[in-house]
Amino acid sequence: MTISRRHYHITTFGCQMNKADSERMAGILEDMGFEWSEDPNQADVILYNTCTIRDNAEQKVYSYLGRQAKRKHEQPDLTLVVAGCVAQQEGEALLRRVPELDLVMGPQHANRLKDLLQQVFDGNQIVATEPIHIIEDITKPRRDSKVTAWVNVIYGCNERCTYCVVPSVRGVEQSRTPEAIRAEIEELGRQGYKEITLLGQNIDAYGRDLPGVTPEGRHQHTFTDLLYYVHDVPGVERIRFATSHPRYFTERLIRACAELPKVCEHFHIPFQSGDNEVLKRMARGYTHEKYRRIIDTIRGYMPDAAISADAIVGFPTETEAQFENTLKLVEDIGFDQLNTAAYSPRPGTPAAVWENQLSEEVKSDRLQRLNHLVAIKAAERSQRYMGRLEEVLVEDQNPKDKTQVMGRTRTNRLTFFNGDINELKGKLVKVKITEVRAFSLTGEPVEVREMASV
Ligand code: SAH
Ligand code: SF4
Ligand code: F3S
Repeated sequence: MTISRRHYHITTFGCQMNKADSERMAGILEDMGFEWSEDPNQADVILYNTCTIRDNAEQKVYSYLGRQAKRKHEQPDLTLVVAGCVAQQEGEALLRRVPELDLVMGPQHANRLKDLLQQVFDGNQIVATEPIHIIEDITKPRRDSKVTAWVNVIYGCNERCTYCVVPSVRGVEQSRTPEAIRAEIEELGRQGYKEITLLGQNIDAYGRDLPGVTPEGRHQHTFTDLLYYVHDVPGVERIRFATSHPRYFTERLIRACAELPKVCEHFHIPFQSGDNEVLKRMARGYTHEKYRRIIDTIRGYMPDAAISADAIVGFPTETEAQFENTLKLVEDIGFDQLNTAAYSPRPGTPAAVWENQLSEEVKSDRLQRLNHLVAIKAAERSQRYMGRLEEVLVEDQNPKDKTQVMGRTRTNRLTFFNGDINELKGKLVKVKITEVRAFSLTGEPVEVREMASV
């Protein structure tokens, strides 16, 4: 008799933290003998790794869940798991809303998936949302890419931005030790990964919770120290990081990025608003003048650096004039990319219960006007690549044109060129840029760089 293998499916919503958590949870499931199924309807275990940053992200989860909950009535041995930020926010309330669920688990419990599932297979319905110390990641993630990889450096967030659910769903800041981070990157280097992105909701906070102070009274482990500590790992050619908070961004960090050849010239530093009064109400802890100084300093050291950010329009009480200050900041700085969102009131956050919430019409009008400007500025920024030689790390085939491969420049611009993915995957190729668009480039390959094997 042949026993067919059991299958799992994961759908991931939300940010890079969730994607990294999903890769680790997939690793755990494979370790338990499950096989990946692209189609959720063929899976025995379905896991939704959820996001609650805005209301529409949360609602999407409920519609997916509704469909699978129905299926469970025909297939009672189906295991339904909700992980991530909606799970943490709703906890037991989620079980009341969807009684078919077997497991509700917050992001801090991702590494405990095997344990939790075993309790489910023993016949229990489980909610795991209590705050815990995140156990060091000893699992082998099942990574989506063979070329680029995420490495968590700090979990959680201790900020209290008045619009944001992240601190309540991700918990307090917990830094991994420099040794554990370096060991993971070394393993990635040995496996042939060429690019790593160091991850944290507020990566500048790295190390504040680790013991040790220098003779000058500085924390011994800052994010800048971490960059120096990991930058020479053999095999890894590029290092990126996200997300930076303007309140803590230092010149020392900027200098390190300029000095360390593998650290890419791309900075993701959300500003949220270009108006000081709004920034104060958001409790962001900086002014637009300080933000501009940071960008000036970056450009002083690295004139060609790419700058991206996040911004929110229609924060409660935001006036037309205050919104125009955001437009002005975008106009002046010229972002390479900007993630924009209309303010969405979130449960348990201070701003959600303030009076003077703006209408959906005003919010969507401002969002459209901002997006229009963002596209114009990004197209202007793209112009500088025309005719230039750019180093592109090849990640994949272009899904829309199989004769092309795609990858990113050091500054994170998506770039396409003719080539065979089997030959070029994971290679650094000098590409002459022949076509520019707002958010991507096309070019001709000139030279493939030889890389030492590790
Ligand atoms: N830690 C990062 C971002 C985390 S959330 C930082 O501090 O910048 C990602 C982005 O979602 C935020 O930068 C913000 O622009 C947006 N966001 C967060 N809460 C939101 C809300 N309630 N409504 C709309 N956008 C929001
Ligand atoms: Fe949210 Fe602010 Fe923390 Fe970013 S820094 S995750 S916006 S609370
Ligand atoms: Fe969403 Fe949670 Fe990330 S709310 S943006 S998945 S931290």
